[in-house]
Amino acid sequence: MVRVGLIGVGNIASMFIQSLQYYRSTGEPKGLIHRKIGNYEVKDIEVVYAVDVSRFKVGKELEEAIFAKPNMVPKLVELPRSGVVVRMGRVLDGVADHMSEDFAVADAREPSLEELAREISDKSVDVLVNLLPVGSREATRFYAEVAMRAGAAFVNCIPEFIASNRTYSERFKNAKTLVLGDDIKGQLGSTIVHRALASLAVMRGGEVVESYQLNVGGNSDFKNMLDSRRLDSKKISKTMAVATTQPDPESVAERIFAGPSGYVPFLGNTKVSYIYMKISGFMGLPIFIDLKLTVDDKAMASAILVDVVRLAKVLKEAGIYGNPGWASAFYFKHPPEPVKSDEEALASLYKNLEELGISVEPKRLPEWMLG
Ligand SMILES: NC(=O)c1ccc[n+]([C@@H]2O[C@H](COP(=O)([O-])OP(=O)(O)OC[C@H]3O[C@@H](n4cnc5c(N)ncnc54)[C@H](O)[C@@H]3O)[C@@H](O)[C@H]2O)c1
Repeated sequence: MVRVGLIGVGNIASMFIQSLQYYRSTGEPKGLIHRKIGNYEVKDIEVVYAVDVSRFKVGKELEEAIFAKPNMVPKLVELPRSGVVVRMGRVLDGVADHMSEDFAVADAREPSLEELAREISDKSVDVLVNLLPVGSREATRFYAEVAMRAGAAFVNCIPEFIASNRTYSERFKNAKTLVLGDDIKGQLGSTIVHRALASLAVMRGGEVVESYQLNVGGNSDFKNMLDSRRLDSKKISKTMAVATTQPDPESVAERIFAGPSGYVPFLGNTKVSYIYMKISGFMGLPIFIDLKLTVDDKAMASAILVDVVRLAKVLKEAGIYGNPGWASAFYFKHPPEPVKSDEEALASLYKNLEELGISVEPKRLPEWMLG
């Protein structure tokens, strides 16, 4: 089994937990990127530990907590009881002032780092997943320390730079633990679509001149991001994800805007992205692309998460420590080593896993690309 601990029982946690039961009960791999990674299928993933700070969630069983406000992923499947009770965490900077009613901090004692690390180690958590609100700089670093201390792999889904930070990656390596990140991509979300179009432009001899990606949504993630002071790393992460597909990423980055652009409550978990691109083409003549993308934001993230926790587990079993860049590039917006295209990232992932004797099914690239 892949034993997972969750930091933050929000909307992604709800979709992720429900997706595990969905794939367990249907036995149908439709919609998954990889049916099997090493010996693990989605049915082999188990959430065994969960931390939050909200009084609506702390002390509740996981299957109840995932439907507590402000979560809004509907009930999609019947969930059996796991016996996991959401545990109080450390608040630090996880709750922005304007989110104090939504994330209503529980009146409970905050645990020490050692306490959390001991519990996580006692529960044999393989992978600790960071799902804190954007802007949780101190809290992310705190839980990263917890993971290191507990010997659990740390999967950083949010735009705080841990896996892509050299000091942290060295520390994870020295602690003989693994870190994957940063900032999870969506299955077919705005970043991957924007990146694919930008690398297509380069493949056809063009170059992006300027571009924006405006995103609106109506969940607590979008509400939290109304505080622009929490957004610095989010903008860097999303902008560089597109810029790194281009011949001169640093200079084009100045003319790319990609980030959260508005909170529209009635949209709920539906995320709408408007992508505009001006491309310099043949003889320098301009090509314009305008695209609207509508997705379920939490399904996008969960589709990646079911792969990433299995990947972390097989790497852990293979004795891989630190931040192997090739393991993060396909799945995260701000990996330790950015790559020009997602095909390249996926080919590198397959090649490295093969060298470790780890199989993946099905392979999502044509045979000739696999060498
Ligand atoms: N497509 C996507 O959904 C996507 C993609 C990339 C990154 N992300 C990021 O993933 C993160 C999680 O997304 P979400 O939609 O589940 O968020 P959410 O707002 O639904 O949930 C956040 C949870 O964290 C809890 N929390 C706040 N401070 C805490 C602390 N100090 N310790 C423990 N728990 C704390 C809150 O109570 C809440 O339950 C966000 O940062 C989001 O931006 C999401």
